[in-house]
Amino acid sequence: MAFFIEKMGWCLMNVNKINKLFPPATIGVIGGGQLGRMFVFEAKRMGYHVIVLDPKPNSPAGQVADEQIVAGFDDISAYFELAKKTDVITFEFEHINAKILESLENSGYRVVPSSRTLGVIQNKFNQKTMLKRIGVNVPEFSEVNNLDELTNLFQYLDQKAILKSSFNGYDGKGNIVIKSKIELEPAYQMFSGEEVFIEELIDFTKEVSIVVVKNDTEVSFYPVVENVHQNSILIKTLVPARLTDDVLKKIHDTSLMIVEELDDYGVFCIEFFVDNDSEIIVNEIAPRPHNSGHYTIEGCITSQYEQLVRIVCGMPLGSTHLRQPCAMYNILGNEESKGKYSVSGLDSLFSIKDCHCHIYGKPDTNNLKKIGHITILGETVEEAEDKGRIALNSIRLKGE
Ligand SMILES: Nc1ncnc2c1ncn2[C@@H]1O[C@H](COP(=O)(O)OP(=O)(O)OP(=O)(O)O)[C@@H](O)[C@H]1O
Ligand SMILES: [Mg+2]
Repeated sequence: MAFFIEKMGWCLMNVNKINKLFPPATIGVIGGGQLGRMFVFEAKRMGYHVIVLDPKPNSPAGQVADEQIVAGFDDISAYFELAKKTDVITFEFEHINAKILESLENSGYRVVPSSRTLGVIQNKFNQKTMLKRIGVNVPEFSEVNNLDELTNLFQYLDQKAILKSSFNGYDGKGNIVIKSKIELEPAYQMFSGEEVFIEELIDFTKEVSIVVVKNDTEVSFYPVVENVHQNSILIKTLVPARLTDDVLKKIHDTSLMIVEELDDYGVFCIEFFVDNDSEIIVNEIAPRPHNSGHYTIEGCITSQYEQLVRIVCGMPLGSTHLRQPCAMYNILGNEESKGKYSVSGLDSLFSIKDCHCHIYGKPDTNNLKKIGHITILGETVEEAEDKGRIALNSIRLKGE
C-alpha cells in the first residue's frame, strides 16, 4: 500500500526495515565492472569499506575497492568468504548465482536486492512472464523448444522477430534479429542447448528508460531518459526524454507497479519502447544501477550509485532532482584499438565546458567494448548532445 506525498515520491507502508550500517561498515559487491567501480567510488567517499568479488584480477571495481576476492560467479566458498567479511552484499551484474545468494540469505546474511528478485529478473523469459501476469504491456513472446516451433512462431509474428537467450544476455549479446525464413536455422543453432524465446520485433519511435530507487520507506524516480542504440549497444543517453506528459505518466504508473510487484529494495532500471501510437512497451528490468543512469553522477543531486550505498546501508534516499539537461556518450573500443590500448584527446575534451570523462581502467578492449563514458551538461538537451558529439570525437583510442 502506498500514498502519494510529493511530485515523484511515495511513502510506503512496508515495515521490513533494513539495518542501519554506519562507516566503517563493509559492503560486498558481486561483479567488478564499471557499475561496481562507480558504486565503490561513492561508498569510499562516504567512509565505507568495500570488497568486490569478480573472476578477473584487478577488475575495474576491484582496482578502487579495499579488496577483491578473485573467484568465479559459481564459487560457493567465495560467496561465503565475501559474506563473512562484509555487513551487507549487493551486486552490479545479474548473471551471478541466485541460488548461492539464497543460501547466503538462509544462513542469515543480508543481500540487497534479494536473491528472489534476482532470480525472477535474471531469466528474461520468467521476467517477461511476470510482467505480463501483472498487466504490463510487453512484446508478444513465446518459448521455443525446437526449430519447427520457431518457424511457426516466426510466421505468426509476421516474419519480424528477435530470438533471445533467457540467460546471460548483455549489450545485445544473446539476441538475434530475424527478418527472413532462411535466417531461422542458423540463428537457432547459435543458441544450441540454451533456453531461448522468440519475441515480436517492435517498431518503436524511441527507446527510453527510468531509474527507480526504493528503500523500506520511500520510492523515487529519476527523470525518464532517451537511449540511442547501435548494434544493440547503448551509444548515447539524452536527459530528459522529450515525451508528452501523457507518455511520462504511463511510464511512471507502470514503473511503480513493477517495483511494487518486486516488493524489494534497490536501484532498478526499466527499459521501454515507445511506439507510433504513444503506447509504451516494457523491454526489460535491471535490478542494479544502469548504463543509462551514468549521467546521474554529474546531472543529479544524488547519483544512482550513492542511492544504492544509502539503500544497502539503511539510509534515507537522496534527491533525484536533475540539475541540468545532459547527454551521456559511451566510449567504445574499435577495430584499431583491440587488445591493450591508450586514450588520448582528454585535453581537447576538457576544454569543452561542463564535460566530464570517466575511463574504467579496463586493461584491454575489443570492438564495441565499453571502456568509458562522457557526461556533458547543457542549457538544453540539444546543446548537451551537440557538445557531447564533439567531445566524443576528440577522444582517440590507440592499440599498442
Ligand atoms: N522486441 C524488440 N524489438 C525491437 N528491438 C529490440 C527488441 N528487443 C531488443 N531490442 C533492441 O536490442 C537492444 C538490446 O536488447 P535487450 O535489452 O533485450 O538486450 P541486453 O543484451 O539485455 O541489452 P543491454 O545490456 O544493453 O540492456 C534493445 O535496447 C533494443 O534496441
Ligand atoms: Mg537492455
